[in-house]
Amino acid sequence: MLAPNLLAFPDGSAVRTPEDWRRRRAQVLDTVVSVEFGGMPPAPAATRWEEVSRSWEPRIAPPGLRYVCGNVRVEGGAAPFSFGMKVWLPAEAKDKAPCPCVLTGDDGWWWLTTDMVNEALRRGFAVAAFNRCECARDIFGPRDPARPELRAAGVYPLFPGDYGAVAAWAWGCHRAVDALLQMPEIDPARIAVTGHSRGGKTALLAAATDERIALCGDNQSGCCGCSASRVVGAGGETLKSISHDWGQWFGPDLASYGDRPAELPYDQHWLCAAIAPRALRVNIGLGDLWSNPLGAWEVHKACREVWRLLGAECALAISFREGPHRYWADDWSRFLDFCAWRLAGGLRPLDLDRRPDWAD
Ligand code: GCU
Repeated sequence: MLAPNLLAFPDGSAVRTPEDWRRRRAQVLDTVVSVEFGGMPPAPAATRWEEVSRSWEPRIAPPGLRYVCGNVRVEGGAAPFSFGMKVWLPAEAKDKAPCPCVLTGDDGWWWLTTDMVNEALRRGFAVAAFNRCECARDIFGPRDPARPELRAAGVYPLFPGDYGAVAAWAWGCHRAVDALLQMPEIDPARIAVTGHSRGGKTALLAAATDERIALCGDNQSGCCGCSASRVVGAGGETLKSISHDWGQWFGPDLASYGDRPAELPYDQHWLCAAIAPRALRVNIGLGDLWSNPLGAWEVHKACREVWRLLGAECALAISFREGPHRYWADDWSRFLDFCAWRLAGGLRPLDLDRRPDWAD
């Protein structure tokens, strides 16, 4: 089983009950967030959703749908800060019951097409999208204090700190959730977050650190996301490589483990397990060797122990499909299937979570 053990406290005693896990989860999160991501920016004094336009033109969306644009305004930091967000609402939102919502910080990338948004709307989901790079720039290269561009923009002037860009992006997801909770059309118990690759790393961290997120759909996040740093298949990205090429994404200590991943005080099953018992689905492309399918499988097996302990094994899924590093329309459809299944009955455990009488 992938080390280090999730279900043991630092003194070696076993984590046996859901109450034990609450305490263990706090230690697990503390370790991953500080070593991998360099901490997180704090929650602000207040977040305000400022709607600037609302449209229902058929040119933009089928009749009955709503397309809302606004700003997520963060109050109480050292400098003013806001970022834009778009929200598409299905026709029945509010008129019937509040609807589930799928949130992504990957606006600004190529993968969320109009067809994909329309499929979600037809299936009764709202979709919200913002560009996480408004919260921290995406800069290639090692973490280097001589390159001040990262820290001059986004959330850094507001809340200065050592955290890397992925932490700033996950913080942006949290503020987007603050804003969605101010919209009466959105069901606060049914917010899902999804992202591709570096956006998947972001979605995992956001869900791990915020229990308001009911479901996480990670697409091919790979190294420092869903895949192990200790177990890397042929052609897979290593900790040494990512912390050199993309050092700005992470905390200041991560690069020191580049040559000795086995000494990391955690592995990626710790990050994923912090989401339990909420829902997590990881999607892997078998042709995407860089994202390390083998390491994703090891993480999945190791963190399944935690979902099992919490009696929620059905809330954890992994899928492997053929093909390269992409968030395809079909990946989105399968993700929406999982959302429909897990979020269809609110957060009540589905019957499948109950152990049948005949099971021992
Ligand atoms: C690079 C990086 C990966 C990352 C990917 C992406 O390939 O090495 O870790 O996931 O970019 O975000 O597309």
